[in-house]
Amino acid sequence: MIEKDTLIAAARAASAKAYAPYSNFHVGAALAFADGSVVSAANVENASYGLALCAETVAVSQAMASGVRGGLLAVAVVGGPPGADGEAQLTQAPVTPCGRCRQVLNELAQLGSTDPVVWSVGSEAVVEMRLSQLLPHAFGPANLG
Ligand code: THU
Repeated sequence: MIEKDTLIAAARAASAKAYAPYSNFHVGAALAFADGSVVSAANVENASYGLALCAETVAVSQAMASGVRGGLLAVAVVGGPPGADGEAQLTQAPVTPCGRCRQVLNELAQLGSTDPVVWSVGSEAVVEMRLSQLLPHAFGPANLG
């Protein structure tokens, strides 16, 4: 199982690549898989503000577009205004995945029958929860028969 600090570092590095000119809130998400691989991504905003893609959603899309269909063991999320290097300067409040991202993460988790640990990072604390705690009674592929 990947080290918490390793995955958080990957999320922080990813946050530097955020395209967030409208919110000025850089988010990085990193996904760790059973085979040892890590996929990380940042949020991608749009001039049509409501079309913003969260970092977690971009990361899941990136993984699935490369053929990944399971094995999701851990997720790290960081966020905050960018520093000089573009990396998020951590907010005090840990950044938990938004509701839509919980559902997007759940698709990949259920496909591989895992319940990933989610590390939500703040400047003073890292909150650790299972995805099933963040999204209890989730609707997923199994519900479609
Ligand atoms: N955002 C994420 O990327 N992930 C989250 O979990 C929360 C919010 C992004 C969306 C938007 O680009 C910016 O943060 C401000 O809401």
